Amino acid sequence: MMIETRELTKMFKDVRAVDGINLTVARGELVALLGPNGAGKSTTLRMLTTLIPPTSGSAQVAGFDVVRRQRDVRLRIGYIGQGNGAGHSQRGRDELISQGRAYGMPVRAARTRAGELIDSLGLSDVADRTVSTLSGGQRRRLDIAMGLIHAPELLFLDEPSTGLDPQNRANLQEHIVRLRAEHGTTIVLTTHYLDEADSMAERVIVIDHGRIIADDTPQQLKAKHVGDRVILGFGSPVDAAQAAKALGAPVADGCVRLVAEDGPREAPRILDSLRSAGLAPDSIEVKRPTLDDVFLTLTGRSLREGGAADTEPELVEA
Ligand SMILES: Nc1ncnc2c1ncn2[C@@H]1O[C@H](COP(=O)(O)OP(=O)(O)OP(=O)(O)O)[C@@H](O)[C@H]1O
Ligand SMILES: [Mg+2]
Repeated sequence: MMIETRELTKMFKDVRAVDGINLTVARGELVALLGPNGAGKSTTLRMLTTLIPPTSGSAQVAGFDVVRRQRDVRLRIGYIGQGNGAGHSQRGRDELISQGRAYGMPVRAARTRAGELIDSLGLSDVADRTVSTLSGGQRRRLDIAMGLIHAPELLFLDEPSTGLDPQNRANLQEHIVRLRAEHGTTIVLTTHYLDEADSMAERVIVIDHGRIIADDTPQQLKAKHVGDRVILGFGSPVDAAQAAKALGAPVADGCVRLVAEDGPREAPRILDSLRSAGLAPDSIEVKRPTLDDVFLTLTGRSLREGGAADTEPELVEA
């Protein structure tokens, strides 16, 4: 296990930011923590990276206790915080080398490693410019290189793609997935972007009010908590009512709504059974669930409310 927590809790005065989290992450996993603003994602990462001590409970990271063995933990992890990053007046390459030196790497090793990361993160064209001239996406990739310079086994990324435009975000995601494939790095990231959690992580941990409320593959979360919906439209309310009766499903907004495990495959069967009852819908729509639907089912709230989700990205400050 790379991470193992027991009832991990953080109080800020009377705010229970993290409320008894039990979490295990195995070597090589790519896990996304998903939750609205203030859910406790960053606080969890900050305890796991030894930046703040837990109020109660415990956590082992890379085999060491985060309180008693801070230094051992720190040497084995990389952490890219929400909006931290390289200094501005140095060249990107020099920032990387200094960071490696700060981790005790000999200068030659740091230089070699910096070169490798610059290549693998697609920074070759910009690494010798001062950091302040880089775009938001380039800067974020440099941040990730900073977190990786000492080849950590475990990388924590707090909202790596917040503030990036969709193209840079996709590009960054591709880099993260590739790094993981090439180096077997265990990665724990937080995100507001539902599509990002869905497409990148094979495991999504949904956090709300400091607690884990779901933990599974995106596919399983969607299948288990929401399912596909098949929505049938009819020309008249009478037909809709008859179809609803034949299918044993409710009518809402003039449409008959069914939940299906596999909507596209079940739709033809549904049409057949309607046909044999002498009914035919005007329209048929199969809706597949999103992780936001999962969150809505679990909490009664949308992740998209309150600017939590796929709102317009802010631009990263230069
Ligand atoms: N240093 C602090 N002092 C007091 N309260 C804090 C502190 N840090 C976090 N909190 C509170 O703890 C709760 C969890 O915050 P946290 O930053 O972990 O949320 P988050 O899930 O990372 O949110 P976001 O998506 O906005 O980054 C919030 O209510 C926050 O206001
Ligand atoms: Mg946060």
